[in-house]
Amino acid sequence: MFDNRNFTKYLSAHEIEGSVQQLAERINKDYEGKEVLLVCILKGAILFLSDLIRHLKVDCRVEFVRLSSYGKGRESSGTVTIIKDIQTDIRDKHLLIVEEIIDSGRTLRFFYERLKSAQPASVEIVTLLDKTNKRVVDVPVKYVGRETSDQFLVGYGLDLEEKCRNLKDIYYLKYPN
Ligand code: IMP
Ligand code: MG
Repeated sequence: MFDNRNFTKYLSAHEIEGSVQQLAERINKDYEGKEVLLVCILKGAILFLSDLIRHLKVDCRVEFVRLSSYGKGRESSGTVTIIKDIQTDIRDKHLLIVEEIIDSGRTLRFFYERLKSAQPASVEIVTLLDKTNKRVVDVPVKYVGRETSDQFLVGYGLDLEEKCRNLKDIYYLKYPN
């Protein structure tokens, strides 16, 4: 699957680490004195979450959700199904959704609205990557590591048909189709 002839390096592990650190610094400042519940969206955000929490100094807990957005090819549809839900009461908690990349925004918009309806103290979103020019629905993203173009990316949790999540660097496909 991974073949250097088809992939071009987009972000090195070192550059990713720099973005993660900067995000953690902002989160540490904004949540000082508070407890935060990190809600990690499986599967793509696991590497980002595990690096991010190592830099957090605020009290935090972690929950995982798995969402499935049915669509054609690499496009999400907005019809989102919850495959694995949060296992704890989120009322009056400070929630921080941890996502690795936002594309159309459909998946996250659905999930954000759903969390909000359970009356938490606050809900914010942190994403490592944001394809801002692909956005179809509005999502209030507070923390963005890097804005990216609309290329399809793999590595560091991002998959190509479930593979390549293990790569330390992030790549784009030279021949996306
Ligand atoms: P959205 O609903 O269109 O915003 O899709 C978001 C989800 O699609 C992300 O959480 C990823 O799982 C996946 N995704 C979007 N862009 C990419 C990409 O470039 N590579 C791998 N997965 C992606
Ligand atoms: Mg994801």
